Amino acid sequence: MAWQELNDAANDPHTGFRYLNVCTINTELKPQARMMVLRRTDSARRLLEFHTDIRSAKWQELALNPAATVLGFCSQSRLQLRLQGGFKRYEPASALAGQTWQGLPVWTRRSYSGGPPGAEWLFPHDQTQHAESEESGEGGQRHFGVLVFQAESLDWFRLERDNNRRARLTYSATGSLTSSTWINP
Ligand SMILES: Cc1cc2nc3c(=O)[nH]c(=O)nc-3n(C[C@H](O)[C@H](O)[C@H](O)COP(=O)(O)O)c2cc1C
Repeated sequence: MAWQELNDAANDPHTGFRYLNVCTINTELKPQARMMVLRRTDSARRLLEFHTDIRSAKWQELALNPAATVLGFCSQSRLQLRLQGGFKRYEPASALAGQTWQGLPVWTRRSYSGGPPGAEWLFPHDQTQHAESEESGEGGQRHFGVLVFQAESLDWFRLERDNNRRARLTYSATGSLTSSTWINP
């Protein structure tokens, strides 16, 4: 059921788990979190795919420490999903990033053409850069990376007024379910 909700979210922007909180450890060993769009799932292998700019802090953080938590809440199903696992980074030159880039609409490609995420916004400079690659967004491909999260465990929690339910599930390296237990909420 949890993975069905995640599958649905990857295909429908209006579902509860479309925007997930991706939490990492930053270079100062402090917790860091940010919203990301869930782009694709592979429920058999317990994979979640995200897209990002390889100049962003998270890309560097994940090079040093691939461990992460992905957290989501859907108000309709009143379900919280908390997945622990690790990320693999697919650089712009990788086959996955290349294929994914080919499928992106031009307006999405353009969002990778600007200045580095988190750097000071130098308005006139950015305007020039933007104009150069505005037509096709092709200039952004060298900044486009794919992040693939593999879940090792899932903490499933459903709010039900006076009867909250919670379960812990663990997965093998190939994605098969290795344990599932109801636990106290
Ligand atoms: C609803 C929402 C969805 C977002 N989706 C993404 C995304 O898919 N990829 C991404 O890199 N940043 C996304 N962002 C921006 C990130 O939350 C974050 O601000 C940015 O990536 C910089 O994060 P970092 O400095 O931790 O790398 C999104 C922000 C919001 C509000």
